[in-house]
Amino acid sequence: MYNELLNSIKSKNLYRKILDRESAQGRIITINSNRLLNFSSNDYLGLASNPEIFDSAASLAREYGSAGASRLLSGGCSLHQRLESQAARFKGADRALIFNSGYAANVGVIPTLVSKVDAIFSDKLNHASIIDGCRLSKADIYIYNHNDPAHLETLLKQTNAKIKLVITESVFSMDGDIAPIPEISDLCRSYNAILYIDEAHATGVLSKYNINYDYIIYMGTFSKALGSYGGYIASSNTIIDYLINTCRSLIYSTALPAFNIAASICALDYMIKHPELNNRLIENVKTLRTGLIEAGFNVSLTPTPIIPILLDSSADALELSKYLFEHGIYVPAIRPPTVTEPRLRISLSAFHTTDDLNLLIDNLQRGLKCILH
Ligand SMILES: Cc1ncc(COP(=O)(O)O)c(C=O)c1O
Repeated sequence: MYNELLNSIKSKNLYRKILDRESAQGRIITINSNRLLNFSSNDYLGLASNPEIFDSAASLAREYGSAGASRLLSGGCSLHQRLESQAARFKGADRALIFNSGYAANVGVIPTLVSKVDAIFSDKLNHASIIDGCRLSKADIYIYNHNDPAHLETLLKQTNAKIKLVITESVFSMDGDIAPIPEISDLCRSYNAILYIDEAHATGVLSKYNINYDYIIYMGTFSKALGSYGGYIASSNTIIDYLINTCRSLIYSTALPAFNIAASICALDYMIKHPELNNRLIENVKTLRTGLIEAGFNVSLTPTPIIPILLDSSADALELSKYLFEHGIYVPAIRPPTVTEPRLRISLSAFHTTDDLNLLIDNLQRGLKCILH
């Protein structure tokens, strides 16, 4: 039975394999003994293997051991509170609450906020964890066209739901484009809706946007630009208190161990003390996007480090990724059901050099010529 299902996946070029690294995460990684220039991680600031962060995290965490229980029992320690204060300050919110991952935050918090008398308005390209959170709630789900406030407004007019929850990513994980947050927040104000913003790929990448709306829930993760692990929600005291009392993925799961929390504390401190990392990332983004456009690729000048190269089929995406791999460059193919249009997802970091970017552009051009023959 499952063999047949697997064969069907393989026949559509949608088979996936886990390729574990033999090296640290970083600019150069080793997979199956191949040294590869890495354009696959969400380590946008290059913090995932920063020795200073991990040394300070180890000494900070040593006295607390692991978690041993849910946060509501004895699983949390003073480091959890310290990270929550730091995250709340960082987001300009009253209070923050740590989750075991960004996935656990979305999948747990969304169904906690809305029930069957309520309505969710979700961008068509929202991440799987948001989709799963929406499905777990019993609310009516309205999907609005990607980054389309006019369509969102049409849908907002169609319901008298008690609670209306609008959900968007601020930087979209597979397209790297940016949501029109000011317009969406204006609509939320007009239609009395709560705005839930998934900042997974915006933290450490984009500067703060200027919105002034009280009913906002920020969701974020320490696992991408911060190079650590774990999710968080930042919002009002009431929302956080409500989540502590009702959110199943918080209540019924062991807390994150102190070492993880300490790594997030140190990474957040480090990022704030080193704004030059963000400057370097933004420079790299500009250089690569401009270079790709000059080389004839259909990419935009959006200031985010996620750059999709769309291809006609999953087979083409696999072929191009394989060509790059064989030439020492790692850019994985992303295929359905993660996306509807197969692509290579280039992910940039502050650690890339201009030579790295030029090498990527050359090899993409050569690889495309090669696979299209
Ligand atoms: C937009 C978005 N939200 C949430 C998540 C989940 O975050 P985490 O990796 O911390 O579970 C991801 C990760 O892929 C993501 O891209």
